[in-house]
Amino acid sequence: MSRDGFGSKIGIIAAAAGSAVGLGNIYRFPCELGNNGGGAFLLVYLLIVLCLGVPVMLSEFVIGRKTQKNPIGAFKMLRPKSAWPLVGYMGVVCALVIMAFYSTVAGWTLEYVVKAVGNQFQGKELSVIEQEFADFHNLGWKNVLWQVVFIFMTGFVVFKGVANGIEKYSKILMPLLVLILIVLAIRSVTLPGAGEGLAFLFKPDFTKITGSVLISALGQAFFSLSMGMGVLITYGSYIKKTDNMTTTALSVTMSDTLVAVLAGIVIFPAAFSFGVRPEAGMGLVFSTIPMIFNQMAGGYFFCIIFFVLLAVAALTSTISLLEVIVAYLVEEVHVTRRWATVIASVACILVGVFASLSLKDTSVLRVGGKSFFDFLDFLSANIFLPVGALLIVIFVGWVMGKSKFFDEITNEGQLKLSIKTLIFFIIKFVAPIAIAVIFITGLI
Ligand code: PHE
Repeated sequence: MSRDGFGSKIGIIAAAAGSAVGLGNIYRFPCELGNNGGGAFLLVYLLIVLCLGVPVMLSEFVIGRKTQKNPIGAFKMLRPKSAWPLVGYMGVVCALVIMAFYSTVAGWTLEYVVKAVGNQFQGKELSVIEQEFADFHNLGWKNVLWQVVFIFMTGFVVFKGVANGIEKYSKILMPLLVLILIVLAIRSVTLPGAGEGLAFLFKPDFTKITGSVLISALGQAFFSLSMGMGVLITYGSYIKKTDNMTTTALSVTMSDTLVAVLAGIVIFPAAFSFGVRPEAGMGLVFSTIPMIFNQMAGGYFFCIIFFVLLAVAALTSTISLLEVIVAYLVEEVHVTRRWATVIASVACILVGVFASLSLKDTSVLRVGGKSFFDFLDFLSANIFLPVGALLIVIFVGWVMGKSKFFDEITNEGQLKLSIKTLIFFIIKFVAPIAIAVIFITGLI
């Protein structure tokens, strides 16, 4: 069977960056930062991305491109009759878990597009916008409806296949999102009282760094870069044998981090200016951003464009998540791509509905004191992804070994890569120790 591949280098960068850049950057990153001590979180986050981002991402790319398979097939091929394929199964389960709550928020972006078109923010006070957001959650069914629409949209793109589906959609729109974030950032930092927000973001208070801040930053870094659950193994399997994976990993890591930091510069100065608490969670983003547009010339149009682009950013991420499940069903269970897409989408909807409904104030869908939504979020980012990433670097560093890794990242010696020894050293020693230490401190 011939596999789909990415047509060009920009294709794979766009698709991997499309997976990475999403609600994780614009919605989850500010929430985590606000809840975990501001600047201290940012500092730890950036350090993790700087040290671990490219090496972990390359580890996944190498596994994928070497085997040309989905995460489960890849481990089966490299270490048949071992427990390693479990890492791949964990990735598929994790994709389902993330899809379930991610599609809830993705659905909100569609609701907000409709609100923006209907001019429903202009001239409203913050308290009204906040109240309307809360009312929307409490409706329940409307969240579910948008969520289902969003999962259908994802299924549609995934069904059309890798090369002409994913590639086409992610190439043009992401640079536009960056542009509009820059416009928003400029407006945000020039609001009265913005300085306090900038200080919250950029002046780290080191006493705030605790085990739980560390694990949250680690989880957020992996979540944002789509690492630790097989998306990048799957996408790696579509990278051409002549592409330079190291520069690809570098571009993806840099663009993703740029968007996250930009989102921080958009949200916090404005939040402080309007009086939204940094710990406000979901409202932080979904109330603050409409308020910024309220204070802007042309805000009506910018607001529409912004939420459309946010929906697209979310879509390129949900595509990558669904693709992990679909590639597994097609290649390991041998169902057709059409059926695989249907099965995967229905599974995401079945779990996802509970995530959406658990956000109602009166909901009984709670696990260990958290809403089911928060539980899935916590489970994936703080447990699955760190454990997955840990096992992946151990696999590449200790099981696969240096010479195979070098062969793959240098395209069998075609590329000269002076930093390859450093990267391998990080994969073999630094990353496993760092992830394990943070994970264990976080648990304690
Ligand atoms: N990285 C995506 C985002 O930041 C979310 C995601 C996580 C996608 C894991 C795929 C895998 O929005």
